[in-house]
Amino acid sequence: MKRIVILASGSGSNAENIINYFKNSAVFKVVLVLSNKKDAKVLDRANRLGVSNGSFNRVDFSSSDTVLNILKENADYVILAGFLWKLPEAIVNAFPNKIINIHPALLPKYGGKGMYGMHVHEAVVANNEKESGITIHYVNENYDEGAIIFQESFEVLPTDTAEDVANKIHTLEYKNFPKVIEKVMLENG
Ligand code: GAR
Repeated sequence: MKRIVILASGSGSNAENIINYFKNSAVFKVVLVLSNKKDAKVLDRANRLGVSNGSFNRVDFSSSDTVLNILKENADYVILAGFLWKLPEAIVNAFPNKIINIHPALLPKYGGKGMYGMHVHEAVVANNEKESGITIHYVNENYDEGAIIFQESFEVLPTDTAEDVANKIHTLEYKNFPKVIEKVMLENG
């Protein structure tokens, strides 16, 4: 059994999709959902789906081993699904090639600090980009710079709003993220 822990900061629609994807698997299981926000919607989703969950603060995450130890005890893979804090080196080092993030743009474009969620889609539309897409990548200690595992793009129409782009992104994320996670776990063990 490979145990997956999801870190998420917000709504958690990707987290829900991943939990559902693996819910009947005999070999992969989402065992825990953790958030840096105690009122994040992702925790309601985890409760509804019967997945253990909890929240942590900055000290737990970055200035102590609290979260590191929880992850070491519970996770074979750590999945970032809309998680907005930079990971401390100790966590990155404890899970080499075992932490996977999804980013709602075609990295290296529209990555880095401040580039998350709707900020990305607004910038894509403001710059009249002809395409956008998703990037699934390993996580290292720098924002959005780990090795790329998977990308898929789509056409941004001149009439698309940032909300339209967000919807297209979510469709691609739901279709691909769980499958890519599964493939990595099968290949990397
Ligand atoms: C997703 O689109 C994800 O790619 C993005 O946040 C959204 C979370 O949606 N992640 C980032 O921007 C990370 N830099 P969700 O909470 O509904 O899954």
